Amino acid sequence: MITGASSGIGEAAAKELASKGAKLVLAARREDRLKKLQEDIQNQGGQAIYKVTDVTSHEQMEELAAYALTEFGKIDVLINNAGLMPNSFLYKKQIDDWNKVIDVNIKGVLDGIAAVLPSMRERKSGHIINLSSVAGHVVGPTSTVYAATKHAVRAISEGLRKEEYSNNIRSTIISPGAVKSELTESITDPDVKAAVGEMYKGAIEAEAIARAIAFAIEQPADVAVNEMLIRPTHQER
Ligand SMILES: NC(=O)c1ccc[n+]([C@@H]2O[C@H](COP(=O)([O-])OP(=O)(O)OC[C@H]3O[C@@H](n4cnc5c(N)ncnc54)[C@H](OP(=O)(O)O)[C@@H]3O)[C@@H](O)[C@H]2O)c1
Repeated sequence: MITGASSGIGEAAAKELASKGAKLVLAARREDRLKKLQEDIQNQGGQAIYKVTDVTSHEQMEELAAYALTEFGKIDVLINNAGLMPNSFLYKKQIDDWNKVIDVNIKGVLDGIAAVLPSMRERKSGHIINLSSVAGHVVGPTSTVYAATKHAVRAISEGLRKEEYSNNIRSTIISPGAVKSELTESITDPDVKAAVGEMYKGAIEAEAIARAIAFAIEQPADVAVNEMLIRPTHQER
């Protein structure tokens, strides 16, 4: 089950995992993108279903998990990937953006975990992969609120690991550096957008992160890849 499957890393992960035989449940808000991805996967011989889902809705996340359980009987892996990065200076008081990024990047991850944990605990098996970022390790100007959410994702993932390892549930943090995707489109301040655009000139393909996700999933059940940091070779910070 992948949130934010309609573009970037989520879409690349869906294609990578489908090519390896995973049965996918794709989630995001843009139905046209999900439908096209489902068709692409099916045309390549893979299996995917989708459900339009807003991760900021606890109810919709519960419905997504219920749909996955009805269709496939179990949820082996949740990839909490949906995210926004509307970077700005604090003094600009872009409070709507702060609220949105906290709702999607933190509460969305928590609601994803809440939706899948009961069935994973019952089966004593499961894997939850949360997308953090280099910004979950390093804070820079304009990325303050985004970095706070990505630090929170790492804290949540580590707490989840400590609470659920004895139930055989694996927790993985994936922390990418600059990756080509639509992520920088949520930046509204033109100066910040230009500065981030400079950094993203060296961005790597989303497939690099998809391969890392697949690696974590493919390990034997007694091996938990708890964290990966994946930067472009030429990215300094
Ligand atoms: N690209 C990078 O450089 C980079 C670096 C570090 C970490 N990351 C993290 O990687 C993850 C994926 O980002 P990306 O780079 O692939 O960006 P992206 O291309 O912008 O994809 C973001 C995805 O999140 C979904 N999304 C946003 N708000 C949502 C909501 N309320 N409900 C459901 N889905 C929502 C979007 O789908 P809809 O709009 O269709 O809902 C989209 O599929 C994010 O968590 C991001 O923070 C990315």
